[in-house]
Amino acid sequence: MIVKSISLENFRNYEKLEVDFNKKVNIIIGNNAQGKTNLIEAIYLSSMSKSFRTNTSSDLINFKKDFTRVIVKVRDDDIDRKVEIRIDKNNKKIIKKNNKIIRKTSELFNNIIIVIFSPDDLSIVKNDPIKRRTFIDRELCQLKPKYYLALSNYNKILKQRNALLKERNINNNLIDVIDSQLAKYGAIISKYRQVFCLELCNLSNTTQKSLTNNKEELVIKYLSSFKNNEISEEKLFNLLKENIKKDIEKGYTTVGPHRDDISFFINGIDVKKYGSQGQQRTCALALKLAEIDLIKKETDKYPILLLDDVLSELDQERQNLIIKHLKMVQLFITTTEIPDQYKEKENIKIFKVKNGDIS
Ligand SMILES: Nc1ncnc2c1ncn2[C@@H]1O[C@H](COP(=O)(O)OP(=O)(O)OP(=O)(O)O)[C@@H](O)[C@H]1O
Ligand SMILES: [Mg+2]
Repeated sequence: MIVKSISLENFRNYEKLEVDFNKKVNIIIGNNAQGKTNLIEAIYLSSMSKSFRTNTSSDLINFKKDFTRVIVKVRDDDIDRKVEIRIDKNNKKIIKKNNKIIRKTSELFNNIIIVIFSPDDLSIVKNDPIKRRTFIDRELCQLKPKYYLALSNYNKILKQRNALLKERNINNNLIDVIDSQLAKYGAIISKYRQVFCLELCNLSNTTQKSLTNNKEELVIKYLSSFKNNEISEEKLFNLLKENIKKDIEKGYTTVGPHRDDISFFINGIDVKKYGSQGQQRTCALALKLAEIDLIKKETDKYPILLLDDVLSELDQERQNLIIKHLKMVQLFITTTEIPDQYKEKENIKIFKVKNGDIS
């Protein structure tokens, strides 16, 4: 899968832009605050119809304009596809695939599969749990439409439940209905996450070992509200019931997939608590590479990888590992300096970004 071209209108600091990309390596170079991340944010938008930086779509519109349009053309197994997204000031979004309007966002997923790797991801091991859940959700939503559906429903129902808890005026019949719905979708989410973590664990351990001369064994564990991770709708329903008093006191739901986490162990030691900074970063890198391998395994396609300012954060050995590992992947690299590995290589395209324009 490759992104062939992009066309932007009023997107962040770009008023108008049309560029064709290289099918292998694209280096987006420029000083700070010129528009490098904005460009890859536009590419990312075409895969999820969301940004990785903001939840407010209208933030993407140029300050001086009242709408933005992004058109991305991709080639996938010799088939050309076009995705067009238009956002206006009221956050209204129109998405078109091959010129036809898409009603459900989920129809967009799986068209353009993108993995983004930014410095923030390097601290995923020690960041707040929400970052790790977002990581899982992003991947599973792209890969599994049923997961996306379950998650959207779960979040909607959870909001209703929390609103009731805040009122402290609990109608037993209503809460029963809500809890059974929450348990239904929650169990689906947890099952997907459990399988996903297991696969990530196996794949990332291979990378961890190769980065540490077989000295370090990495285990990723899924931490859920279920005892021993034994997941069922009935168990979640009972858990919600058991905790209702506490939930009313606190004014929010204290159990369920929205509280999930994952933890990382190197040779049995919890990396978040005891790992060195280097170990935490190696884990993060192993996790990202595993994500790419997993997408390949699931879809039989390589995703597109966006590396936002991340290479310069890694030492030479780790940079080499990424580049070696990613030979088959179309890369977009934002940077302020061309990485050594690419200084004399062919088959790369360099985009110089200056103040919302590219040469
Ligand atoms: N909606 C918007 N309209 C106009 N300009 C915007 C908008 N949103 C962000 N910008 C501007 O775009 C500029 C470039 O941002 P971007 O994040 O792409 O920089 P960058 O080249 O990645 O820089 P760095 O190297 O510091 O990461 C910033 O100066 C920012 O103020
Ligand atoms: Mg940037």
